[in-house]
Amino acid sequence: MVFALPILAASPRASEPAVERTSPRSVRISVTDRCDMACVYCRPTMTDGYVPAEDRLDVEAWDRLVRALVARGVSRVRITGGEPLMFRGVVEVVRRIRAIGVEDLALTTNASQLAALAAPLRAAGLARINVSIDSLDPARFAAMTRGGSLERVLAGIEAARAAGFDEIKTNTVVLRDHNDDEVEGLTRWAWECGIVPRFIEVMGVGEGAKLFQSHVVGYREMRAKVAHLCVDDEAEVERDRGPAKYVRSRDGNHRVGFITGTTDTFCEGCDRLRASSTGVLRACLSKNDGVDVSDAARRGDDASIERGLADAWAMKPDASWKGCTESSAASVNMRATGG
Ligand code: 5AD
Repeated sequence: MVFALPILAASPRASEPAVERTSPRSVRISVTDRCDMACVYCRPTMTDGYVPAEDRLDVEAWDRLVRALVARGVSRVRITGGEPLMFRGVVEVVRRIRAIGVEDLALTTNASQLAALAAPLRAAGLARINVSIDSLDPARFAAMTRGGSLERVLAGIEAARAAGFDEIKTNTVVLRDHNDDEVEGLTRWAWECGIVPRFIEVMGVGEGAKLFQSHVVGYREMRAKVAHLCVDDEAEVERDRGPAKYVRSRDGNHRVGFITGTTDTFCEGCDRLRASSTGVLRACLSKNDGVDVSDAARRGDDASIERGLADAWAMKPDASWKGCTESSAASVNMRATGG
């Protein structure tokens, strides 16, 4: 079933040429499905009865898996979770991937443990970091994340700034009546910190499926909230950096980004593959099917990983797929695959 969203009909972006999708260029590895927050658009409660996976890949297996994927043409890696900093080997994973050599290595975190880990991650070769932050109000932040501490997150962001990453971006999922009045405030704050703020339409994936029809704030509305700070140009995507589109500030010194997974569909140009913490390769965020390559990763069996990669890639939906508005999206476990 495709949800009917009269004013927010999903449409392919005509301006972008179709990407030749013979193999993935980018992989997101979810090193753990554990998380110390329970964001309202992601999982039901902090104690949702979810039992974390026990058969997670270890550092060696990640090394072998990423090595094999890079040999098959992957050139960009993002480390996600769950909360990736809850994976004890995360710094070592960064070091190993840096040693393999990739064009781009980035990580998405909730920053609860970033104060201690920013410098080691940077020293291990992490280039870029994205931090999720849904509010600058401590009580609101705690409510949206079900217990997260804004103070810790801000300390984590400070440590990241001090560590000298090439780039820090923030992710804010904008929910009507929760934080839709903070788009301008978060933008001004991020710009002052030298951070690129990004605002995300809630997608009907996982727990977001219960929220997105009633609480989605679409691109046009988000952009209107910062229109007076930005030039009027059409927002533009960054080459090889996923589907976010950006607009410049009036003084030309800053950018603000928008990720429009609900009003747009990114399926046509999608060159992404995802690997779950248990070593399942998945071709689409909105579908549960995938190919288990965990044994091959543990054994370092490159031929089997290659076959798994080809089989997973064959599951890529075609360009008519409406991704996050498909009904299968509601049953996706965001914790296992990462946003
Ligand atoms: N809709 C949009 N973004 C989501 N994320 C998680 N769940 C959703 C959802 N339902 C994103 C958040 C977070 C990242 C890890 O995943 O932006 O920053």
